[in-house]
Amino acid sequence: MPDSTSTAEERVRELADGSSIPTLGLGVWQVPSGPECEHAVRWALELGYRHIDTAQAYGNEESVGLGLRESGVPREEIFVTTKFFPKHKDPAAALEASLRRLGLDYVDLYIIHWPAGGPTWAWPGMERAHDAGHARSIGVSNFGVDDLEQLLPTATVPPVVDQVQFSPYEYRQALLDSCRQNGIALEAYSPLGTGRHLGSEAVARIAQRHERTPAQVLLRWGIEHGIPVIPKSTHRERIAENAQLFDFRLSDEDIAELDALDRTGGTDRALEHKWWS
Ligand code: A2P
Repeated sequence: MPDSTSTAEERVRELADGSSIPTLGLGVWQVPSGPECEHAVRWALELGYRHIDTAQAYGNEESVGLGLRESGVPREEIFVTTKFFPKHKDPAAALEASLRRLGLDYVDLYIIHWPAGGPTWAWPGMERAHDAGHARSIGVSNFGVDDLEQLLPTATVPPVVDQVQFSPYEYRQALLDSCRQNGIALEAYSPLGTGRHLGSEAVARIAQRHERTPAQVLLRWGIEHGIPVIPKSTHRERIAENAQLFDFRLSDEDIAELDALDRTGGTDRALEHKWWS
C-alpha cells in the first residue's frame, strides 16, 4: 500500500565523514567475472541503483568496471565499494591494483573484508589509501564489538561503516547499538539470508498484507532501521523488484514481528562462525 510518508530522503544516508551512501546497493558476491557480472551491474544502474558493492576477493572487479562504463551513468553519481582482501599485506597498494581493475581513480568506500590476523594491523594502510584520495571513505566488514573496541583507539581516521551479515533473522542489536554510539553506519550484507529467508512464512504473511514480495519486505525492514542493504541478484527482474522499496512502509507491528525473528540473541558479534583465525 503506497504511503507518502516513505520519502526520497530514505534513499541516501549520511556517513560520519560527511559522505553519503545510497541505502540500496547491488552486491556481487559469488557473481563470476564475465558477462553475468557486467550485465547485472549495468542493469542495476539502468534501473536506478547508484551503489555497487564488490571486493578484491570476489575476483570480479574488472567486470564491475565494465558494467559501470557500459551503463553510461556518470562516475560521480555512483557509489562504489571494494574490500581489502586481508591475505595481502598492504591495503594501500592493494587498492591501487583494484582501481586499475575497476578502471577508476577512486572508490567511494574501501573496507577491510574481515579482521584476519586481528582488527588493527591493516588500519594504517587503509588510512594511507584514504589520505592518497583513492578511497573517499574507509571502514570495516565482519567486525564485532570486540574488534571495533580494539580498532577505534588506534584510528586517526575512524571507520565510518561496518558491513555485516544482517537481516531480521540476524538482527545484531548490540552490534548495531555500538555502531550507532561510535558514528559507524552498519551496512547489511546477505539481507535476504543469501536467499534462505525468502521462504519464511512470517515474511510471506507480511508481504501478502502489503501486496509486496518477501524480498521487498526483508529489504524494507533494513531501510526502516536506517541500514543500507546490498541484495545480490544476477536476474534483471529481481534486480528491479529489489529496488521497489521506497513507495511503501511497514507498520510498527510488522517491524516488531520481523525484529522478533532474530536468532542471534541480539548479539554484539558480527558472525556466529568465523572463517578466519
Ligand atoms: P539470483 O542471483 O539467482 O537472482 P543475498 O542478497 O541475501 O545474498 O541473497 C542473494 C540470493 O537471493 C541469490 O541467490 C539471489 O539469486 C536471490 N535473490 C535475490 N533477489 C531475489 C528476489 N527478488 N527473489 C528471489 N530471489 C532473489
